[in-house]
Amino acid sequence: MNIFRFVVKSLRTRIFCVIFLTGILASVIILFATLVNYEERAVNVNTQEAQTQMRVLANHLITNNYLQDPSSRIISGELDMLSSLYDGRVLIIDDSLKVVRDTYGIAEGKTIISREVVQCLKRGEAGAAARHDRQNGYIEMTTPIIETKSLEGGDIARGVPDKTEQIVRGVMLISISTEPITTTLQILQRKAMIIEIIILAVLFIGSLLIANLVSRPFDRITAAINDVKAGYTNKPIIENAYMETEHIANAFNQLLLREKALDDSRQAFVANVSHELKTPMTSIKVLADSLTAQPDAPVELYRDFMEDITREIDRENQIINDLLELVKMDKQVSALNITQVDVNVLTENVMKRLRPLARRMDVELTFESVRPVTAEVDEVKLSMVITNLVENAVKYNKEHGWVRVGLDADHQYFTLTVSDSGVGIPEEAQEHIYERFYRVDKSRSREIGGTGLGLAITRTAVLMHRGSIEVASTEGEGTTFTVRIPLIHPTGKETRP
Ligand SMILES: Nc1ncnc2c1ncn2[C@@H]1O[C@H](COP(=O)(O)OP(=O)(O)OP(=O)(O)O)[C@@H](O)[C@H]1O
Ligand SMILES: [Mg+2]
Repeated sequence: MNIFRFVVKSLRTRIFCVIFLTGILASVIILFATLVNYEERAVNVNTQEAQTQMRVLANHLITNNYLQDPSSRIISGELDMLSSLYDGRVLIIDDSLKVVRDTYGIAEGKTIISREVVQCLKRGEAGAAARHDRQNGYIEMTTPIIETKSLEGGDIARGVPDKTEQIVRGVMLISISTEPITTTLQILQRKAMIIEIIILAVLFIGSLLIANLVSRPFDRITAAINDVKAGYTNKPIIENAYMETEHIANAFNQLLLREKALDDSRQAFVANVSHELKTPMTSIKVLADSLTAQPDAPVELYRDFMEDITREIDRENQIINDLLELVKMDKQVSALNITQVDVNVLTENVMKRLRPLARRMDVELTFESVRPVTAEVDEVKLSMVITNLVENAVKYNKEHGWVRVGLDADHQYFTLTVSDSGVGIPEEAQEHIYERFYRVDKSRSREIGGTGLGLAITRTAVLMHRGSIEVASTEGEGTTFTVRIPLIHPTGKETRP
C-alpha cells in the first residue's frame, strides 16, 4: 500500500516518469526514423546509378545492332559486368517480347510477358520503372532501348534542326540485389541499439536528478512547517522557488499570524479577567482592613463599610456570571432554545424592567414598532441582547436625554434599533466595543458599574441567531445600534458564532 502510494501519488515519481518515458519515446522514434530514411535513400541512390548505366548500355545496344545480332562479345561483356557489379541479372528483350539475352543464360529465346516490360515498350522513356521488393531483397528496373531516327525537313542554314523520331526497339530488364543495403542496415541497427541503451541510462539518471530538483522546494516547505509544528520556531516561512510554493507559504504564514493573534487575545483576556476579578477583592480587603484597624469603630461605620463590601461582592458576582454566560455560549454550539416568540411583547417586557433605571437617570424611554413581529428565536438570549443595548443607551446618556427603541421586519429579517442621545462612541473605539472588558472611558464606566462584557455577550448571542449587529455613532451626539435577525432560524443547528 505504501509503495503503491509512493509510486502513484508522489510528485517526484510522476515527474520522473514523464521525463523518462518522453525521452525514451523521442529517442526511439528518432532512431527508427533515421534507419528507415537510410534504407530509402540507399535504395534510391542505387536505383539511379543503375539506371544511368543502363541508359548508356541501351545506346550501345542500338549502335551495335545487338537486338538483331546478339553475338557482339564487347556488349555481352558489358552486360555481364553490369550484372556482376550489382550482383544481379540483366535481361534484354526485343519488341516482340522475346528474350535476346539473359546474363543467367536460362531465359534466352523465351517470351516474357510482364506488365512492366509491356508498359515500357509501349510508352518508351515514360514507361521506365523501378520497383523495390523489400521482402525478397531486390530492385527491379526497366529501361527502354530507343533508336533515334533523323527525318528530313531540317534546314541547317536557317538553324532549324532535322526532325527526329524515337522508336522503342526493346526493353532492358535488370534486377539488382539489395543485400549490401540490408547488411549495412543491420550494422546500423546494432549500433542504434547500443546508443539507445546509453540514452536510456543517461535519461534515467537525468530524470532522477530533475525530479529530485523540482520537488525539493516542497520538501523544504514540509520541513519548515514541521519545524513550526514541533515548536522550534514560529518565524514565517519563505519559499518562493515557485509560485505554488509561495502560495502555500503565504497561506501557512497567514494561519500562523491568526494563531498568534488568537493566542495574544487569549492572554490579554486572562490578564483582563484576573484584573477585573481582583479589583473588587482589593476594595473588600481595604474596607475590611480599615475596620479591623479600628477596634472601637462605631456601628454606623461598620454598617456603612459592610454595605460597600456587599456592593463589591455583588459586582464580583456579576462579573463571574457574565463570564460564565460567555463561556457557555462559546462552548455550547447549538444551545439555542428556539421557540416562536412575539418580539413586540418581549421588547416591551424588557423595557418595563429598565424603566426605573431610566427614570433614575432622567432619560426618556420610548418604543416604536412598525408591525407585529413573531420570530423563531431563543427568548432568554434575545431578551439579554435587548437588555444590554437599552441598558447601555440609558447608562451612557446625558441629562434629559432620550432612548428610542424601534422594531421592523421584512419577509426575511426583523430589525431592532436602539438609538440614544448620549455621549457617543469615538470612531477609533467602535471596532473594539465588542471585545471582552473593553470600555471607552474606563473611569466613567467604573463609576457606572460596567465591566465591558455586555456587548461581547450581545454580539455572541446575535451571531448564534445568524444575525448581525452594527453601530453608528457620533461623539457627543448619540449612538444607534442595529440588530438584524432572521425570522426563521436556519435548522437550529450549526450556530457557532
Ligand atoms: N450606547 C452607548 N453610548 C456610548 N457608549 C457606549 C454605548 N454602548 C456601549 N458603549 C461603550 O462601549 C463599552 C462597552 O460596552 P459593554 O456593554 O460591553 O460594557 P459596559 O457597559 O461597560 O459593561 P457591562 O455591560 O458589562 O456592564 C462601554 O464601556 C461604553 O464605553
Ligand atoms: Mg453594557
